[in-house]
Amino acid sequence: MKKRIFSGMQPTGQLHLGNYLGALRNWVKLQKDYECFYGVMDLHAITLPQDPKTLARNTRETAAAFYAAGIDPSQCAVYPQSAVLEHTYLQWLLANHTPLGWLNRMTQFKEKSAGIHKSFIKNIKPISDLSGEEKERINQKIQELEPFMKIVVDGGSIIDVEANLGLFAYPVLMAADILIYKATHVPVGEDQKQHLELSRDVAGAFNRHYGVEYFPIPEPQILGEAARVMSLRDGTKKMSKSDESDYSRINLTDDADAIKKKFQKAKTDPLPCPSAVEEFKQRPEIENLFTIYAALADKSAKDVVAEFSGKQLSAFKNALADLAIARLEPITKRMRELMQDEAEIDRLINKSLERARALAAKHLAEVKDIIGLWRG
Ligand code: TYM
Repeated sequence: MKKRIFSGMQPTGQLHLGNYLGALRNWVKLQKDYECFYGVMDLHAITLPQDPKTLARNTRETAAAFYAAGIDPSQCAVYPQSAVLEHTYLQWLLANHTPLGWLNRMTQFKEKSAGIHKSFIKNIKPISDLSGEEKERINQKIQELEPFMKIVVDGGSIIDVEANLGLFAYPVLMAADILIYKATHVPVGEDQKQHLELSRDVAGAFNRHYGVEYFPIPEPQILGEAARVMSLRDGTKKMSKSDESDYSRINLTDDADAIKKKFQKAKTDPLPCPSAVEEFKQRPEIENLFTIYAALADKSAKDVVAEFSGKQLSAFKNALADLAIARLEPITKRMRELMQDEAEIDRLINKSLERARALAAKHLAEVKDIIGLWRG
């Protein structure tokens, strides 16, 4: 029997080079050898405010990006997470096997709530002291966030932002996404490692409590040279959709000109190309660019360093931009074509949805029997 993969991406904006090198490209490579389920994780996306129309468009666009990158719809199931109700049902069942302490340790929750916190706290002046334009911006942001976060105002200043339960419970939903298909493997970027450890712990806790070996303990697959692609503006920060600066990332929808400009403007130090990978430790931005090149060229970082040793950084950056354009342009083109025909995307999604729903329903029925829940 083929081993089974589950993985997913949030439709929270344009996919970027980090999503591609850290995950999507590996999904394409793995599809031959595994039975694959690839979700567009819209229920995860709504843990932060989303514009409804944009969310719906991004959900289709994310599925289109999967197909454009080479996911074969006849082999893999691709569908929005919200269309398979069993994910959230299982989340509740697994929540009863997840101690709060495990969730409290999740660094992404801390980072996300701190990120929101920072964007407010930055402004320590009492709201009443702000200029008209600033005040309007802050009030608009409060209105947008209020249903999601509790904004604590004291003496006219924002002193705290409390995250919602959805954001806190997010890793339990991730465990359910994987376990509802009894997936054995989960290809992701480095940043999801801690969430996957939690999924493993939750699966183990359930199995132990009921004295069964029902859920497989899912194996993370963190593959390739670029499992953690960093921002082009700061080599110590992850490349991310939510970074304010578009120059921090290469989007899968960027055209050749934008890709060239972004790599030329990428932050670097004034030294020439490195002559050994050992230099990476002191030069995080250089490490990032060389790692991206290595991943795109399917070479090791060591070989790429040897190739460019002694050359000017500007020459390397040009070569990197050309390589990225050559790799990404066909994907961008296919994505644009697909987005012209939304009905076709929907048809592909609906076809694989049946398969996902049938398997999820079968497993949920088995889990309900294990727990002793009414099945009628
Ligand atoms: P998301 O949408 O943030 O990212 C999707 C995938 O892209 C990888 N990734 C990166 N890899 C390398 N460098 C980067 N800078 C970079 N940024 C993102 C992520 O590791 C991920 O593999 N919670 C998940 C979605 C999810 C999921 C799941 C994944 C929900 N349920 C179950 C696996 C299994 C997320 O927000 O990924």
